Amino acid sequence: MRSAGVTPNVVIYTTLLKGHCAAGDTPAALKLIDAMSKEDPPVVPDLRSLNTFIRGCIRVGDIEAAHSLFIQIKQKWGLEPDATSYKYCVKLLAQGLRFQDLKCLLKELRKAAGKGEEASVAVLSGLENGIALHLDVASAAAMLGKWPAAWSNLERAKEAMSKGNGEAEGGELFNQTRLKELGIEMKRLESFLRANQGGSEESSVVSPDLPSYLSRCFVFSSLLSSEDVNETPVNELAGALSRKTLSTMGGVELVRRDQTTKEEIESQYDRNLTEKGKIKWKKLFKESGGDLPLKMEICSGNGDWVAAQADSESSKANWVALELRHDRVYSIYSRMVYGSLSNLAVLGGDASSIVERNVKKETVSQVCINFPEPPHWSGNESAESKLHLLTPAFFLALWKILKSKGRLTIFSDNYLYCQSLAASLGQLSKGGKSLYKSNDKASITSGDGGHELHNGVRLYYGIPGPDSGHAVNVTSYFDRFWERGQHTERYFIAVIKVDN
Ligand SMILES: C[S@@+](CC[C@H](N)C(=O)[O-])C[C@H]1O[C@@H](n2cnc3c(N)ncnc32)[C@H](O)[C@@H]1O
Repeated sequence: MRSAGVTPNVVIYTTLLKGHCAAGDTPAALKLIDAMSKEDPPVVPDLRSLNTFIRGCIRVGDIEAAHSLFIQIKQKWGLEPDATSYKYCVKLLAQGLRFQDLKCLLKELRKAAGKGEEASVAVLSGLENGIALHLDVASAAAMLGKWPAAWSNLERAKEAMSKGNGEAEGGELFNQTRLKELGIEMKRLESFLRANQGGSEESSVVSPDLPSYLSRCFVFSSLLSSEDVNETPVNELAGALSRKTLSTMGGVELVRRDQTTKEEIESQYDRNLTEKGKIKWKKLFKESGGDLPLKMEICSGNGDWVAAQADSESSKANWVALELRHDRVYSIYSRMVYGSLSNLAVLGGDASSIVERNVKKETVSQVCINFPEPPHWSGNESAESKLHLLTPAFFLALWKILKSKGRLTIFSDNYLYCQSLAASLGQLSKGGKSLYKSNDKASITSGDGGHELHNGVRLYYGIPGPDSGHAVNVTSYFDRFWERGQHTERYFIAVIKVDN
């Protein structure tokens, strides 16, 4: 920095931190925080830079790093954690099922708020934080079968929500969406609690069998084009996956509670992977029916859509969700648990690497991609192609994992992007033969039934039907987000694999 004539300051360092965090590289971000204090004179991190780091930890599920930095905010830098620091830290501790730590943190917060300490009062009474904080704690309690704690925290979240109903109506789109989504989340949790113990607040006997759900979660890595877990030699893959499950999905806590052992977690992965690191689908889904058609959603977000498909197709199909961001992978896992979905699995990591390395050829009947991210136009072609998933190379990788006559459906609100994807699919060929053909008979659930052609591939106007993998018409998070923004046009592409 200095050699380029730039005097480092906290703003520059925070921008660099953001970059590392967006790429999912929290170890590099931590080194940067260290480097700040070694500058002469030292650059002291402010709350914004420290919160940037904790937010980065959410992306990759780094619970330990976030928690220890949260403690240092006060102890090392003499700052007061704000609403954002608490919200992020509580979210991560809840994912780790660290119930004792959560209780301590909330107790401390309530005590401080009781004494009228401004920051603590703000955290607890801030509308979104009051809801999110208690909902996360309620969710961790529910996962552990701590029903009374789950109910009481859910009640607190509801109370905070009822105070803020007026604010949800106004406000900008993002906050409105956030509050509505928290409301949906509260309902989901409440129906899970009722299903498990009929609404009684008495302690119940059964807690969810988390180890069995975890055996269908493969957290590879949250780094883009990762050289992390997925680069590990295949004979070490089961060990690497088991370490991720322990450290990022609450596995450590389950071991501590004697619900499973480290060895059992690792041997589950070992049993479900071939020597080449491919997932053995039949074994993985033996409970729901290993011979059922396998369907995959790529870029699943928080998993609303895929969980609804799996639910509506129990004993008809097995579904796999693939998602890069760890917080979203965890959401998908919690939907598996809340919905008792034995026909859903989740793979966490970069789809371009997982599809190539861990999915056997010709095993998937249907691939769905809803609201994919269009490329970022940075002007740097190599950076763009690294970040853009839906490239011709990726469509070729999908072609390989699809069964004969397997289907690929892309659904989006982005007209121009859909046009370019249809054109790209229509152009794709191997040995002079097209790899995909347009499904000209695709049914349309809603829309005017119109279409246009791009290199022979139809771009339909409307919402795809069951023959394109949309067994049930439900909205995903991004679907709702755009709809609230009055962005209501929808388009889809439905193609069929041509054998070569
Ligand atoms: C616009 S969101 C759509 C999410 C979801 N389908 C929905 O409709 O709500 C795109 C999602 O793709 C995920 N994603 C982006 N690049 C990815 C990659 N290389 N591998 C896997 N997931 C990726 C993002 O993390 C994000 O959750």
